[in-house]
Amino acid sequence: MNASLPQALDQALAAAVRAPSPQNTQPWQFVVDGPRIEVWLDRERVLAVADPIAREARLSCGAAVYNLVLTLRVNGIRARVRVLPDPAERDLLAVISIEGNTRSSTMDRRLAEAVHRRQTNRRPMFDRPVPVSARAQLRSAALAEGGQLEFLDGSGRYAQVAALVRRAETAQSTDEEYLAEAASWTGRAADSPDGVPIVAFGPPAEGPGTVSLRSSHQNPSIAPRPFEQDPVLAAVLTRDRGTAAEVRAGMIMQRVLLTATAEGLATSFLSQPFEARETRTHLLEVFHRLGDVHTLLRIGYGLPTRMTARRPAAEVTTVRTPAR
Ligand SMILES: Cc1cc2nc3c(=O)[nH]c(=O)nc-3n(C[C@H](O)[C@H](O)[C@H](O)COP(=O)(O)O)c2cc1C
Repeated sequence: MNASLPQALDQALAAAVRAPSPQNTQPWQFVVDGPRIEVWLDRERVLAVADPIAREARLSCGAAVYNLVLTLRVNGIRARVRVLPDPAERDLLAVISIEGNTRSSTMDRRLAEAVHRRQTNRRPMFDRPVPVSARAQLRSAALAEGGQLEFLDGSGRYAQVAALVRRAETAQSTDEEYLAEAASWTGRAADSPDGVPIVAFGPPAEGPGTVSLRSSHQNPSIAPRPFEQDPVLAAVLTRDRGTAAEVRAGMIMQRVLLTATAEGLATSFLSQPFEARETRTHLLEVFHRLGDVHTLLRIGYGLPTRMTARRPAAEVTTVRTPAR
């Protein structure tokens, strides 16, 4: 049986805040105005050094929008999303309007169930290939949201991207401003409602890999472990560019991440080359024939880690008019 609208909306907002965000900053605010839900960028939570133009924050809000609408749908509620509906309010990233009833698909229910299990996995992945069928599902997930997921192995882009990740990681690991910002959001207690707790860190890598995960998310007090030599990497792309494309890319990214979770795959992000000044333009150039690249994901099989907490939805929601 479907939940009532207020119940469904509570569930949807609880799902929205499970979206990933850089350093678990949760840069979102929601306003409920009857059958309309506004999703606002929270400027106070944008990473000034790593993400000065709020690109990653907009991706995160897009992911929250995806979780919200998906959860309404599995409760039988049809909602329309308008991205950047008001040119005068650039931080109003999306308006979700409840329009009536719908039926959810088996796929919707599988993805909605994955919302509360998806996590960023910074541990080594198993030596087990990602099968062709799973890759096809992940690609279809991106296509279904109007985007593209490009697997990099087997293309010349792999080595180029891996080199940019290593270069950006080296730049960031000696950048005092970046390190201070990262330190202010990481290394927190397991139940911290925001930021990245130490329990979500990975072990340090034993030996140099082709790709470097963020050293600021490694726990130096645990023994180094060998990571996969050539991790499976995939890029989320859109045809168009700009801030609206970034919000949509967040929705695409989230559908890919939830599909991966539903398929039993682990995922993590490699955002260093987007953030470091030295590498960002090069990264965009590597993909420019395909479109605009928004995020790089590492995908494989691995042991689950501890879930990272969130601020409760009520803390980030203002109710102007209750939904009935
Ligand atoms: C746009 C974006 C970029 C991210 N970049 C990185 C990254 O480079 N390295 C990393 O370890 N995690 C990265 N993350 C993951 C966040 O740290 C993670 O989502 C957050 O800590 C919440 O944890 P959870 O994903 O396990 O729920 C990124 C997340 C988003 C949305």
